[in-house]
Amino acid sequence: MAMRSIARGARTGAIAGPPPTRTSDEEGALSAGPRIPRHVAIIMDGNGRWAKQRFLPRAVGHQRGVEAVRRAVRAAGELGLEALTLYAFSTENWSRPEDEVSALMGLLKRFILSDLDEIHGNGVRLTIIGNFKALSSDLVELIEQALERTAGNSGLNLVIALNYGSQDEIARAAARAAAAGPVTVESIASHLDTAGLPELDLLIRTSGEVRLSNFLLWQAAYAEMVFLDVLWPDFTREHLEGALAEFARRERRYGGR
Ligand code: FPP
Repeated sequence: MAMRSIARGARTGAIAGPPPTRTSDEEGALSAGPRIPRHVAIIMDGNGRWAKQRFLPRAVGHQRGVEAVRRAVRAAGELGLEALTLYAFSTENWSRPEDEVSALMGLLKRFILSDLDEIHGNGVRLTIIGNFKALSSDLVELIEQALERTAGNSGLNLVIALNYGSQDEIARAAARAAAAGPVTVESIASHLDTAGLPELDLLIRTSGEVRLSNFLLWQAAYAEMVFLDVLWPDFTREHLEGALAEFARRERRYGGR
């Protein structure tokens, strides 16, 4: 597969700061700008540690994590990404203490209620991956309304992974593919929750941990990975720009030479 090396213009703004160094593959490419990933995913890790360092309840770390979500969504739109996927609640997160689970659900609800106007106004389209229908009925209703309201938007696709586990997603996709016909890589891919989204280019994890934690295992097959030593509540636009600059420096070979 040919490396996608043509820079795309930022949709609503340009990358701030010095442009990333172009790789040798890009010398002579028609476009002179940096390579911008189409689809970036983030494992937003470190809310609990951020709170612990400050002797605060974990819920405060999650609250500050929502502010980092706002910064990331605004920056992703301005930097011209097509899709930003955020790991907000995993199938394994149900095993956390009940008060933490309900704090996270409350934050999601408040985020939709308080930020949907801005998100919609910026042309952002909301997508959910994972089995969100298993959440509480008021949250499901709110999410469905938000999905419907933003469905026609053509800006950034904000993908929130909710009650999401990659192994569960692959198993569901494989079962649907088998019911529909021969099971192939393509048929499984076409039944994943992420079907229709651009190929995942870059996966970022904050907090210094270096693992995937059941997130986008299939989609990460050829993604570049950047692990940042920053706790999620401290994540800023500059961290995202730094990860994009790192992406632009990498040479992607998709198993070829
Ligand atoms: C991981 O940190 C973070 C989560 C499990 C939840 C992420 C949720 C948010 C940032 C807020 C809600 C999201 C949206 C989209 C509004 P951790 O608690 O595992 O941190 P630790 O490893 O330091 O304990």
